[in-house]
Amino acid sequence: MKTAIAVNLEKISRMTNIGIVLLLVGSGMTGYFVSFYFHFLTVFFMMLVLLNLHWRHGQTSHALLSNFGLIAQFRYIIESVGPEFRQYLFSSDTEEKPFSRVERAEVYNKAKGMDSSSAFGSLLDFDHAEMKLRHSFYPVDKDAVQPFDVAVGQARGIESVYHIKHPIMISAMSYGALGQNAVRALARGAKRAGAAMNTGEGGYPKYHLMEGCDLIFQMGTAKFGVRHEDGRLDESKLAELAARDEIKMIEIKLSQGAKPGKGGLLPKEKITAEIAELRGVPLGSDVVSPAHHIECTDAESTVEFIGRIQQVGGLPTGIKFCLGRSDEFRELVKEMKRQDTVPDFITVDGAEGGTGAAPKSFMDDVGLPLFKGLPLVDQILREEGVRDRLVLFAAGKLISPGRQMQAFSLGADVAYSARGFLLALGCIQALQCNRNTCPVGITTHRANLEQGLDIEDKAVRVANYIEALHHDYKELLAATGSITSSQLCEDNIYIPIRTVMQRSDEEAS
Ligand SMILES: Cc1cc2nc3c(=O)[nH]c(=O)nc-3n(C[C@H](O)[C@H](O)[C@H](O)COP(=O)(O)O)c2cc1C
Repeated sequence: MKTAIAVNLEKISRMTNIGIVLLLVGSGMTGYFVSFYFHFLTVFFMMLVLLNLHWRHGQTSHALLSNFGLIAQFRYIIESVGPEFRQYLFSSDTEEKPFSRVERAEVYNKAKGMDSSSAFGSLLDFDHAEMKLRHSFYPVDKDAVQPFDVAVGQARGIESVYHIKHPIMISAMSYGALGQNAVRALARGAKRAGAAMNTGEGGYPKYHLMEGCDLIFQMGTAKFGVRHEDGRLDESKLAELAARDEIKMIEIKLSQGAKPGKGGLLPKEKITAEIAELRGVPLGSDVVSPAHHIECTDAESTVEFIGRIQQVGGLPTGIKFCLGRSDEFRELVKEMKRQDTVPDFITVDGAEGGTGAAPKSFMDDVGLPLFKGLPLVDQILREEGVRDRLVLFAAGKLISPGRQMQAFSLGADVAYSARGFLLALGCIQALQCNRNTCPVGITTHRANLEQGLDIEDKAVRVANYIEALHHDYKELLAATGSITSSQLCEDNIYIPIRTVMQRSDEEAS
């Protein structure tokens, strides 16, 4: 019979406690009788003994330390380096979250312009949980695929229609969540590839503007950069910003997948004097945005607000949200029809979306995932007869061409990615975006860390990634026998039983 090896913590702790006292006495005597230099060790062991006494008898907040002293401290040390050990030594290539090594490697390769072909076979699990694209018996020639061109604002007949020329755009990430070098590298890469980039809700987009790329100005619930002191919209500031040549569209953020129903959060560690000035907030405390725009308290006021921004900005204007209740969304669409005010685009963000900082309970448990929310939004818009009056953007782990095609099949017209672009910048998924300690200088404002991020070098990677995604988009689309992604529909993907969209059930409940 096997017996489990049990660690006798009490015994080890007793031996450790006695051991450090003996070492203290030993080094003291050796220092006295043999050489003075041993007293360095005496000082070291003295500190250990004192610390041990403090942990065991001088504090009450850690029961483990109280009971076992020094030896318990090792548990905290090992626990703190556990993620790094797991990531580099123990996790398999398909195991890590939110993005496995296989998924990250695909982005790294594309960003470096490397050949992304592999040998022998896929590393993914081909089990019942995998969604797959359904190809056609009759693929079309890649060159027959129509150039990507999605016109936003056309249905409203405005002059400032914006043409999106790549299937992927850089999703909202503010200067604040990101450091200035990261923002500039993304913006320069977007400019080089001719793609659009969202500013995030960080106020006046000083660093985004520096590189001259096409921008989607995002107005979060705090309206940083375009607010009066009481938090209401300052129309003149918005109009001034919208008049800039680089600003092509305006996105009103109603909510975000990582924290739907809760406003944005920028921890005080990341608020520099410049960020405080650009956002119009005080230094030294966390900046928490309200959970909703003060102007938007029900469907009627929300649609009125959308109409007002369309008028003030004079640009294609849309809303971003993570879907919660579909009946509420239907009510909102009905109100749009009643007021004859339809946003020019809607961005559906999945609950699996990323963030610079958010409460864990919101990240884990609130909102619909993209592949549930997106088809519901698409379906409701169709049923209400307004789908052709707007364009649908989608975000939520769309970092690979395959997942982007799945999103197109479920109703999206254009894909957005945030973390895909962080990976293209060299993100190693250290999960420290909220601490200002990003080791690769992306989500930090510390000069010593930011200096490692070379703007020009990383801009090339961003542009490569956009081009490679566009290339794969054409190839995958051709394999489905389609010449434009608007021909794709749910029949183009295999949706396993576990993730089948129970639309009618959802609607009925
Ligand atoms: C560092 C970081 C900062 C973000 N900041 C914003 C923001 O300012 N406004 C917003 O609407 N979404 C923000 N997001 C969410 C993204 O725009 C996007 O909706 C979400 O991460 C899903 O895309 P992804 O899975 O490709 O990252 C942020 C995400 C990250 C990772």
